[in-house]
Amino acid sequence: MIHTRICDLLGIPHPIVLGGMGTATTAPLVAAVSNAGGLGTLGTSAFNAATLETEVASIHERTDKPFGINLLLFQIQEDMFAVTLRARPAVTAFAWARKDQDLRDYFQRAHDAGSKVMHMAGEVPEALRAAEAGADVIVAQGTEAGGHVGWMASLPLVPMMVKAVSPLPVLCAGGIADGRGLAAALALGAEGVLLGTRFMATPEAPIHPNYKQAIVESDGHDTVLTEIPDLASQRVWPGAMSRAQRNQFIERWSGREWAVRQNAREIGRQVAAARAAGDIDNASLSFGQDAGLIDSIKSVREVVQDIIKEAEEIIKGRLQGLIR
Ligand SMILES: Cc1cc2nc3c(=O)[nH]c(=O)nc-3n(C[C@H](O)[C@H](O)[C@H](O)COP(=O)(O)O)c2cc1C
Repeated sequence: MIHTRICDLLGIPHPIVLGGMGTATTAPLVAAVSNAGGLGTLGTSAFNAATLETEVASIHERTDKPFGINLLLFQIQEDMFAVTLRARPAVTAFAWARKDQDLRDYFQRAHDAGSKVMHMAGEVPEALRAAEAGADVIVAQGTEAGGHVGWMASLPLVPMMVKAVSPLPVLCAGGIADGRGLAAALALGAEGVLLGTRFMATPEAPIHPNYKQAIVESDGHDTVLTEIPDLASQRVWPGAMSRAQRNQFIERWSGREWAVRQNAREIGRQVAAARAAGDIDNASLSFGQDAGLIDSIKSVREVVQDIIKEAEEIIKGRLQGLIR
Protein backbone atom coordinates (compact mmCIF):
# COMPACT_ATOMS: atom_id res chain seq x y z
CA MET A 1 0.00 0.00 0.00
CA ILE A 2 1.35 3.41 -0.93
CA HIS A 3 1.00 5.74 2.03
CA THR A 4 2.20 9.35 2.10
CA ARG A 5 1.82 12.37 4.38
CA ILE A 6 -1.17 13.52 2.34
CA CYS A 7 -3.07 10.36 3.35
CA ASP A 8 -2.76 11.28 7.03
CA LEU A 9 -3.41 14.98 6.46
CA LEU A 10 -6.61 14.45 4.46
CA GLY A 11 -7.75 11.18 6.04
CA ILE A 12 -7.67 9.18 2.79
CA PRO A 13 -6.22 5.69 2.14
CA HIS A 14 -4.81 6.55 -1.33
CA PRO A 15 -2.85 9.68 -2.34
CA ILE A 16 -5.18 10.41 -5.27
CA VAL A 17 -7.32 13.55 -5.55
CA LEU A 18 -10.02 14.45 -8.05
CA GLY A 19 -9.53 18.03 -9.29
CA GLY A 20 -12.67 20.15 -8.90
CA MET A 21 -13.83 20.80 -12.46
CA GLY A 22 -16.54 23.34 -13.33
CA THR A 23 -19.05 21.40 -15.40
CA ALA A 24 -17.32 18.03 -15.10
CA THR A 25 -17.68 17.26 -11.39
CA THR A 26 -21.01 16.62 -9.70
CA ALA A 27 -21.98 14.67 -6.58
CA PRO A 28 -21.85 11.14 -8.09
CA LEU A 29 -18.25 11.57 -9.32
CA VAL A 30 -17.04 13.35 -6.19
CA ALA A 31 -18.57 10.73 -3.89
CA ALA A 32 -17.28 7.87 -6.07
CA VAL A 33 -13.68 9.11 -5.78
CA SER A 34 -13.98 9.52 -2.00
CA ASN A 35 -15.65 6.11 -1.64
CA ALA A 36 -12.81 4.58 -3.70
CA GLY A 37 -10.28 5.87 -1.15
CA GLY A 38 -9.21 9.10 -2.84
CA LEU A 39 -10.45 12.64 -2.22
CA GLY A 40 -13.31 13.77 -4.44
CA THR A 41 -13.50 17.50 -5.05
CA LEU A 42 -16.50 19.41 -6.33
CA GLY A 43 -15.95 22.21 -8.85
CA THR A 44 -18.36 25.08 -8.26
CA SER A 45 -18.19 27.35 -11.29
CA ALA A 46 -21.34 25.84 -12.82
CA PHE A 47 -23.41 26.42 -9.66
CA ASN A 48 -25.04 29.28 -7.81
CA ALA A 49 -25.34 29.29 -4.01
CA ALA A 50 -28.65 27.38 -4.03
CA THR A 51 -27.58 24.67 -6.48
CA LEU A 52 -24.22 24.32 -4.70
CA GLU A 53 -26.06 23.67 -1.44
CA THR A 54 -28.17 20.96 -3.11
CA GLU A 55 -25.09 19.37 -4.69
CA VAL A 56 -23.25 19.28 -1.36
CA ALA A 57 -26.27 17.63 0.27
CA SER A 58 -26.20 15.05 -2.52
CA ILE A 59 -22.53 14.30 -1.81
CA HIS A 60 -23.35 13.80 1.89
CA GLU A 61 -26.10 11.33 0.92
CA ARG A 62 -23.61 9.32 -1.14
CA THR A 63 -20.57 9.25 1.12
CA ASP A 64 -19.43 9.80 4.69
CA LYS A 65 -15.81 10.05 3.52
CA PRO A 66 -13.80 13.30 3.28
CA PHE A 67 -14.29 15.46 0.18
CA GLY A 68 -13.30 18.90 -1.06
CA ILE A 69 -14.97 21.96 -2.58
CA ASN A 70 -13.11 23.98 -5.21
CA LEU A 71 -13.42 27.75 -5.54
CA LEU A 72 -11.99 29.94 -8.29
CA LEU A 73 -10.65 32.93 -6.40
CA PHE A 74 -10.77 35.47 -9.22
CA GLN A 75 -14.53 35.13 -9.42
CA ILE A 76 -15.33 34.12 -5.85
CA GLN A 77 -18.74 35.20 -4.62
CA GLU A 78 -19.47 35.69 -0.96
CA ASP A 79 -22.68 33.64 -0.98
CA MET A 80 -20.89 30.67 -2.63
CA PHE A 81 -18.04 30.93 -0.13
CA ALA A 82 -20.58 31.01 2.71
CA VAL A 83 -22.23 27.79 1.46
CA THR A 84 -18.78 26.19 1.19
CA LEU A 85 -17.86 27.14 4.74
CA ARG A 86 -21.19 25.92 6.11
CA ALA A 87 -20.58 22.57 4.41
CA ARG A 88 -17.32 22.26 6.40
CA PRO A 89 -15.58 20.21 3.68
CA ALA A 90 -12.40 18.36 4.63
CA VAL A 91 -10.65 20.51 2.03
CA THR A 92 -11.35 23.91 0.52
CA ALA A 93 -9.45 23.83 -2.76
CA PHE A 94 -8.65 27.26 -4.16
CA ALA A 95 -7.25 28.11 -7.56
CA TRP A 96 -6.66 31.01 -9.93
CA ALA A 97 -6.33 34.05 -7.71
CA ARG A 98 -5.78 37.50 -9.15
CA LYS A 99 -2.29 38.81 -8.40
CA ASP A 100 -3.71 41.59 -6.21
CA GLN A 101 -6.00 39.33 -4.14
CA ASP A 102 -5.19 38.80 -0.47
CA LEU A 103 -5.25 35.03 0.07
CA ARG A 104 -4.78 35.14 3.83
CA ASP A 105 -8.36 36.09 4.70
CA TYR A 106 -9.90 33.36 2.50
CA PHE A 107 -7.55 30.73 3.88
CA GLN A 108 -8.19 31.80 7.48
CA ARG A 109 -11.96 31.59 7.05
CA ALA A 110 -11.62 28.10 5.56
CA HIS A 111 -9.44 27.06 8.49
CA ASP A 112 -11.94 28.54 10.95
CA ALA A 113 -14.59 26.31 9.36
CA GLY A 114 -12.41 23.27 10.08
CA SER A 115 -11.21 22.82 6.49
CA LYS A 116 -7.72 22.16 5.23
CA VAL A 117 -6.65 24.62 2.54
CA MET A 118 -5.35 23.42 -0.81
CA HIS A 119 -4.13 25.91 -3.40
CA MET A 120 -3.31 25.14 -7.02
CA ALA A 121 -0.41 26.97 -8.65
CA GLY A 122 1.32 26.77 -12.02
CA GLU A 123 4.36 28.81 -10.98
CA VAL A 124 6.67 28.78 -7.95
CA PRO A 125 5.97 32.41 -6.86
CA GLU A 126 2.23 31.66 -6.70
CA ALA A 127 2.93 28.54 -4.60
CA LEU A 128 5.10 30.61 -2.23
CA ARG A 129 2.38 33.24 -1.94
CA ALA A 130 -0.12 30.54 -0.94
CA ALA A 131 2.33 28.93 1.49
CA GLU A 132 2.92 32.29 3.17
CA ALA A 133 -0.84 32.85 3.38
CA GLY A 134 -1.24 29.61 5.33
CA ALA A 135 -2.11 26.89 2.77
CA ASP A 136 -1.84 23.28 3.99
CA VAL A 137 -1.30 21.66 0.58
CA ILE A 138 0.02 23.02 -2.70
CA VAL A 139 -1.04 21.59 -6.04
CA ALA A 140 1.67 21.96 -8.69
CA GLN A 141 -0.28 22.07 -11.94
CA GLY A 142 1.76 21.48 -15.07
CA THR A 143 0.85 22.79 -18.48
CA GLU A 144 0.06 19.23 -19.67
CA ALA A 145 -3.18 19.41 -17.67
CA GLY A 146 -6.66 19.81 -19.03
CA GLY A 147 -8.63 22.98 -18.39
CA HIS A 148 -6.94 26.26 -17.48
CA VAL A 149 -3.18 26.01 -17.15
CA GLY A 150 0.07 27.94 -17.02
CA TRP A 151 3.24 27.45 -19.03
CA MET A 152 5.50 25.24 -16.90
CA ALA A 153 5.55 21.47 -17.35
CA SER A 154 5.21 19.15 -14.34
CA LEU A 155 8.67 17.59 -14.65
CA PRO A 156 10.60 20.75 -13.70
CA LEU A 157 7.72 22.41 -11.80
CA VAL A 158 7.08 19.76 -9.14
CA PRO A 159 10.62 19.45 -7.72
CA MET A 160 11.01 23.23 -7.78
CA MET A 161 7.78 23.69 -5.87
CA VAL A 162 8.53 20.88 -3.42
CA LYS A 163 11.80 22.60 -2.55
CA ALA A 164 10.30 26.08 -2.41
CA VAL A 165 7.38 25.32 -0.07
CA SER A 166 9.01 22.54 2.00
CA PRO A 167 7.81 21.10 4.37
CA LEU A 168 4.33 21.68 2.91
CA PRO A 169 3.07 18.69 0.94
CA VAL A 170 2.76 19.11 -2.83
CA LEU A 171 0.42 17.24 -5.17
CA CYS A 172 1.35 16.83 -8.82
CA ALA A 173 -1.40 17.67 -11.34
CA GLY A 174 -1.36 17.47 -15.10
CA GLY A 175 -0.64 14.58 -17.42
CA ILE A 176 -1.29 11.79 -14.93
CA ALA A 177 -3.67 8.98 -15.83
CA ASP A 178 -2.07 5.80 -14.50
CA GLY A 179 0.34 4.26 -12.01
CA ARG A 180 3.36 5.37 -14.02
CA GLY A 181 2.31 8.95 -13.39
CA LEU A 182 1.82 8.39 -9.67
CA ALA A 183 5.22 6.67 -9.34
CA ALA A 184 6.86 9.52 -11.28
CA ALA A 185 5.15 12.17 -9.15
CA LEU A 186 6.35 10.50 -5.96
CA ALA A 187 9.88 10.33 -7.42
CA LEU A 188 9.72 14.08 -8.06
CA GLY A 189 8.97 14.65 -4.39
CA ALA A 190 5.18 15.02 -4.55
CA GLU A 191 3.04 13.42 -1.85
CA GLY A 192 0.35 12.40 -4.30
CA VAL A 193 -1.48 13.28 -7.48
CA LEU A 194 -4.50 15.31 -8.56
CA LEU A 195 -6.31 14.10 -11.68
CA GLY A 196 -8.94 15.59 -13.93
CA THR A 197 -9.01 14.07 -17.41
CA ARG A 198 -8.72 10.41 -16.28
CA PHE A 199 -11.78 10.78 -14.02
CA MET A 200 -13.77 12.38 -16.87
CA ALA A 201 -13.61 9.11 -18.81
CA THR A 202 -15.65 7.22 -16.19
CA PRO A 203 -19.34 6.29 -16.06
CA GLU A 204 -19.70 8.50 -12.97
CA ALA A 205 -18.57 11.71 -14.75
CA PRO A 206 -21.44 14.06 -15.69
CA ILE A 207 -20.23 14.88 -19.21
CA HIS A 208 -21.80 13.71 -22.49
CA PRO A 209 -20.79 10.15 -23.56
CA ASN A 210 -19.39 11.56 -26.82
CA TYR A 211 -17.03 13.79 -24.81
CA LYS A 212 -15.81 10.74 -22.86
CA GLN A 213 -15.31 8.87 -26.14
CA ALA A 214 -13.32 11.81 -27.55
CA ILE A 215 -10.92 11.47 -24.61
CA VAL A 216 -10.59 7.72 -25.22
CA GLU A 217 -9.96 8.27 -28.93
CA SER A 218 -7.51 11.16 -28.49
CA ASP A 219 -3.85 10.25 -28.94
CA GLY A 220 -2.91 13.14 -26.64
CA HIS A 221 -1.30 15.11 -29.48
CA ASP A 222 -4.47 16.93 -30.46
CA THR A 223 -4.79 19.49 -27.66
CA VAL A 224 -3.82 23.13 -27.88
CA LEU A 225 -3.46 26.09 -25.54
CA THR A 226 -6.06 28.60 -26.60
CA GLU A 227 -8.05 31.62 -25.46
CA ILE A 228 -10.98 30.87 -27.75
CA PRO A 229 -13.21 28.99 -25.25
CA ASP A 230 -12.84 31.79 -22.70
CA LEU A 231 -13.54 34.50 -25.26
CA ALA A 232 -16.69 32.63 -26.26
CA SER A 233 -17.84 32.26 -22.65
CA GLN A 234 -16.87 35.90 -21.93
CA ARG A 235 -14.93 34.87 -18.85
CA VAL A 236 -11.36 36.09 -18.66
CA TRP A 237 -9.18 34.01 -16.32
CA PRO A 238 -6.20 35.79 -14.78
CA GLY A 239 -3.20 34.78 -16.85
CA ALA A 240 -4.46 31.36 -17.92
CA MET A 241 -4.69 29.63 -21.24
CA SER A 242 -7.16 26.82 -21.72
CA ARG A 243 -6.04 23.39 -22.93
CA ALA A 244 -8.69 22.07 -25.27
CA GLN A 245 -8.94 19.68 -28.17
CA ARG A 246 -8.05 21.29 -31.53
CA ASN A 247 -11.44 20.42 -33.02
CA GLN A 248 -13.50 22.19 -35.70
CA PHE A 249 -14.64 24.85 -33.24
CA ILE A 250 -11.06 25.83 -32.35
CA GLU A 251 -9.83 25.56 -35.98
CA ARG A 252 -12.68 27.82 -37.17
CA TRP A 253 -11.69 30.72 -34.92
CA SER A 254 -7.90 30.31 -34.60
CA GLY A 255 -6.21 33.54 -35.66
CA ARG A 256 -9.58 35.29 -35.63
CA GLU A 257 -9.92 35.74 -31.88
CA TRP A 258 -11.08 39.31 -32.53
CA ALA A 259 -14.13 37.87 -34.32
CA VAL A 260 -14.94 35.67 -31.32
CA ARG A 261 -14.82 38.79 -29.13
CA GLN A 262 -17.12 40.57 -31.56
CA ASN A 263 -19.69 37.73 -31.64
CA ALA A 264 -19.08 36.20 -28.22
CA ARG A 265 -22.69 36.00 -27.14
CA GLU A 266 -23.85 34.08 -30.22
CA ILE A 267 -20.76 31.87 -30.40
CA GLY A 268 -21.04 31.13 -26.67
CA ARG A 269 -24.66 30.11 -27.16
CA GLN A 270 -23.72 27.78 -30.04
CA VAL A 271 -20.89 26.19 -28.06
CA ALA A 272 -23.13 25.55 -25.05
CA ALA A 273 -25.79 23.98 -27.30
CA ALA A 274 -23.17 21.80 -29.03
CA ARG A 275 -21.86 20.64 -25.68
CA ALA A 276 -25.32 19.70 -24.40
CA ALA A 277 -26.03 17.79 -27.64
CA GLY A 278 -22.73 15.91 -27.57
CA ASP A 279 -21.61 17.60 -30.81
CA ILE A 280 -17.89 17.17 -30.16
CA ASP A 281 -16.83 18.99 -33.34
CA ASN A 282 -18.49 22.25 -32.35
CA ALA A 283 -18.24 22.17 -28.55
CA SER A 284 -15.24 23.25 -26.53
CA LEU A 285 -13.59 20.04 -25.24
CA SER A 286 -11.12 20.60 -22.44
CA PHE A 287 -8.84 17.72 -21.60
CA GLY A 288 -5.18 17.09 -20.88
CA GLN A 289 -2.35 15.56 -22.88
CA ASP A 290 -2.79 12.42 -20.79
CA ALA A 291 -5.84 11.62 -22.92
CA GLY A 292 -3.21 9.74 -24.94
CA LEU A 293 -2.83 7.35 -21.99
CA ILE A 294 -6.56 6.69 -21.65
CA ASP A 295 -7.96 3.94 -23.84
CA SER A 296 -11.15 2.92 -22.09
CA ILE A 297 -13.97 4.19 -19.95
CA LYS A 298 -13.77 2.47 -16.59
CA SER A 299 -15.31 2.98 -13.20
CA VAL A 300 -13.80 5.38 -10.70
CA ARG A 301 -13.04 2.46 -8.38
CA GLU A 302 -11.12 0.68 -11.16
CA VAL A 303 -9.23 3.87 -12.01
CA VAL A 304 -8.08 4.32 -8.41
CA GLN A 305 -7.25 0.64 -7.84
CA ASP A 306 -5.39 0.30 -11.16
CA ILE A 307 -3.30 3.41 -10.48
CA ILE A 308 -2.30 2.18 -7.03
CA LYS A 309 -1.54 -1.35 -8.22
CA GLU A 310 0.55 -0.21 -11.17
CA ALA A 311 2.50 2.34 -9.11
CA GLU A 312 3.26 -0.28 -6.47
CA GLU A 313 4.47 -2.73 -9.11
CA ILE A 314 6.73 -0.07 -10.66
CA ILE A 315 8.23 0.98 -7.34
CA LYS A 316 8.69 -2.53 -5.90
CA GLY A 317 9.54 -4.19 -9.19
CA ARG A 318 11.06 -2.26 -12.04
CA LEU A 319 12.67 0.57 -10.05
CA GLN A 320 13.95 -1.66 -7.25
CA GLY A 321 15.40 -4.01 -9.86
CA LEU A 322 17.49 -1.20 -11.36
CA ILE A 323 19.60 -0.88 -8.24
CA ARG A 324 22.83 -2.87 -8.31
C1 LIG B 1 -12.92 20.27 -18.08
C2 LIG B 1 -12.00 20.74 -16.98
C3 LIG B 1 -12.48 21.70 -16.09
C4 LIG B 1 -11.65 22.14 -15.05
N1 LIG B 1 -12.16 23.06 -14.16
C5 LIG B 1 -11.41 23.40 -13.08
C6 LIG B 1 -11.97 24.25 -12.07
O1 LIG B 1 -13.11 24.69 -12.14
N2 LIG B 1 -11.18 24.55 -11.00
C7 LIG B 1 -9.89 24.07 -10.87
O2 LIG B 1 -9.24 24.36 -9.87
N3 LIG B 1 -9.34 23.28 -11.82
C8 LIG B 1 -10.08 22.93 -12.90
N4 LIG B 1 -9.54 22.08 -13.85
C9 LIG B 1 -8.15 21.61 -13.70
C10 LIG B 1 -8.08 20.36 -12.80
O3 LIG B 1 -8.35 20.72 -11.47
C11 LIG B 1 -6.70 19.69 -12.84
O4 LIG B 1 -5.70 20.61 -12.49
C12 LIG B 1 -6.36 19.10 -14.20
O5 LIG B 1 -7.47 18.47 -14.77
C13 LIG B 1 -5.21 18.09 -14.03
O6 LIG B 1 -4.74 17.67 -15.27
P1 LIG B 1 -5.26 16.36 -16.05
O7 LIG B 1 -6.57 16.78 -16.66
O8 LIG B 1 -4.19 16.10 -17.03
O9 LIG B 1 -5.45 15.29 -15.04
C14 LIG B 1 -10.33 21.63 -14.92
C15 LIG B 1 -9.89 20.66 -15.82
C16 LIG B 1 -10.70 20.21 -16.84
C17 LIG B 1 -10.18 19.14 -17.77
